[in-house]
Amino acid sequence: MEYIVINGQKRLQGKVDISGAKNAAVAIIPAAIASGGVCIIDNVPYIEDVVNLTKALESLGATCEYKDNNHTLIIDATNINTHILCEKHAKNTRASYYFMGALLARFGKMEMPMPGGCEIGARPVGYHLRGFELLGATCTQEHGLVKIEAVDGLKGGTIHLDSPSVGASINIMIAAAFAKGVTTIENCAKEPHVVDTANFLNKLGAKISGAGTGTIRITGVKGLKGGEYTIIPDQIEAGTYMIAAAITGGDVMVENIIPKHMESLTSKLREIGADITEGLDCIRVQVDKPLKGCDIKTAVYPGFPTDLQPQMAALLCTASTGSVVTENIFENRYRYAGELRRLGASTRIEGRSIVINGNYRLTGAKVKATDLRAGAALVLAGLAAKGETKISGVEHIDRGYEDLEEKLRNLGADIKRVGKDV
Ligand code: UD1
Repeated sequence: MEYIVINGQKRLQGKVDISGAKNAAVAIIPAAIASGGVCIIDNVPYIEDVVNLTKALESLGATCEYKDNNHTLIIDATNINTHILCEKHAKNTRASYYFMGALLARFGKMEMPMPGGCEIGARPVGYHLRGFELLGATCTQEHGLVKIEAVDGLKGGTIHLDSPSVGASINIMIAAAFAKGVTTIENCAKEPHVVDTANFLNKLGAKISGAGTGTIRITGVKGLKGGEYTIIPDQIEAGTYMIAAAITGGDVMVENIIPKHMESLTSKLREIGADITEGLDCIRVQVDKPLKGCDIKTAVYPGFPTDLQPQMAALLCTASTGSVVTENIFENRYRYAGELRRLGASTRIEGRSIVINGNYRLTGAKVKATDLRAGAALVLAGLAAKGETKISGVEHIDRGYEDLEEKLRNLGADIKRVGKDV
């Protein structure tokens, strides 16, 4: 078992370069299955979720080659010869659900066990399956296996999502790329990675419009060619480093980002007293006084992202006044709260909210990451805590953060990975 060990209370200073967006990469890589040529994908984050999806593609018969320090991925999916994804590859990441849309587009049918991923709520795929059905497919679930088949091919239709699910919006968009006629997805997600996946598919010859608005329209095409595409920067990784700067009273320039994607966080950091300066592709976060608490409600984009909720809660534990953070997307996203309490935070859960009493000093302790963003929150708390914090469950963090320790060390953190609990 591996641990991350942090000696806290070092002020972070300097520049950090943000990797490509995880949630765009994990959609774009399976979407390459729909291409009839070679896809060259640049600015790929080299993280476990990406590596696992690459292995899943290879298990289907694709060839995948990493170049440029593992940040360019060349996928040739032309030789994929099966529509069945095996259990191992379905279970090791939530994003394996994108194989549903991609294999369905390519073969008109697909089979896989239910996807795995972070345990932060029920995370059903009902909207995805309902969408495929409205395009003419039949979906069955038996013994944990999902089978989808469109005997007469997919046909365009109108799909109104009950709520703007990121996964369902992207999955239906991929499946509909070849559906006959026009598909309209209403009440769809507007997250930057939805737009990025649409742009990728359009680069290959798809006809998708409206991504980034509440309605996406897909006019089916006969086939997709290969092409080169550069993934957008990771909004959540960028936000994590902005919060790292704030929690250590630091001065950090977060580079290679799209500042517009950060607006909900930038606005909250300003509200609690941080100095934020925006450049064209960077944001500088400076803090030289105690921060205040605030109230936050997570929401779909452009609201405050649920994927930054645990990290922001960690920051608010160190604020001079109290805060209430309300999680509106997932029903079980406070599993980190008990771990923060081990570090000295004073919090309690009330329904969908975590009530944080400010002005508590954090002290290092042994804690466990229970999911990806919970792990990031504990790293941030460890950076602020006095003494040593030892974090287990590091494999969750590796799913979504590239070179986390190295990037933080370059900013002045005292952080290392150790192999064994000695
Ligand atoms: C994606 C992101 C995840 C992020 C989340 C919300 C990926 C790989 N993961 O997850 O990092 O936290 O968006 O921004 O991109 N729902 C249903 N039925 C469905 C689908 C979703 O009820 O069929 C519900 C979920 O339970 C949840 C809400 O809709 O309450 C949002 O889920 P969704 O946007 O689909 O999240 P994911 O795609 O799982």
